[in-house]
Amino acid sequence: MHIRSAEFVTSAVKPEQYPPADLPEVAFLGRSNVGKSSMINCLVQRKNLVKTSQQPGKTQLVNFFAVNGHLRLVDLPGFGYAKVPKAVQQQWGPMIETYIENRPTLCGLFLLMDIRREVQEEEGRLLQWLMDRGLPVRLVLTKADKFSRSAALGRQKALMRQTGLEAENLVMFSAKTHQGREEVWSWISSMTGVAETRPQKEEACKSF
Ligand code: GTP
Ligand code: MG
Repeated sequence: MHIRSAEFVTSAVKPEQYPPADLPEVAFLGRSNVGKSSMINCLVQRKNLVKTSQQPGKTQLVNFFAVNGHLRLVDLPGFGYAKVPKAVQQQWGPMIETYIENRPTLCGLFLLMDIRREVQEEEGRLLQWLMDRGLPVRLVLTKADKFSRSAALGRQKALMRQTGLEAENLVMFSAKTHQGREEVWSWISSMTGVAETRPQKEEACKSF
């Protein structure tokens, strides 16, 4: 995907604060520190459009970014980090759930997992919940650069067995080496209907 523009739109806690539902969106979901914000920066080829951190719990709101004026990428707060105060964690669940359940322009989601970790119960449940809603969801194995190519392939196979997902629903990704970037963009194009060559608002997401 050729990136002509990428800009921050707004941060939101509740639907009244979302931008108008006039462009297709894809969202990025996963445990804290898994690399959601870094993945968005890598996709739009900007180092610091989205703030990242070594400290888990950096993204605390639903953040919207517009790409080429034709679609939006949505960065969601991470879940499962014990050091984030309980009261805050309790807000994040409903914040994420509300966005996913009520956003008519949401065309698909990327569930991110660190390639070095096993599937946790939380992720298994989340994957099922998303699939039950009929939302297109793809599993992204982040930080693939931490492994050699053959070790990463071994992890990919093991994670396919654990999740029951087919190879075409799973991608290895590295924000460091940009591995997987083009594949993810081609998924985004097919999820949103926004083709690289003819980005037309009218063609956008089948679901609205
Ligand atoms: P929260 O906002 O806290 O939920 O985290 P996040 O999922 O947005 O993670 P973020 O992008 O902030 O990255 C967390 C840490 O992982 C940072 O130190 C990144 O530099 C590092 N990181 C992210 N992606 C990669 C990757 O592909 N490879 C490597 N080696 N490190 C990565
Ligand atoms: Mg983040």
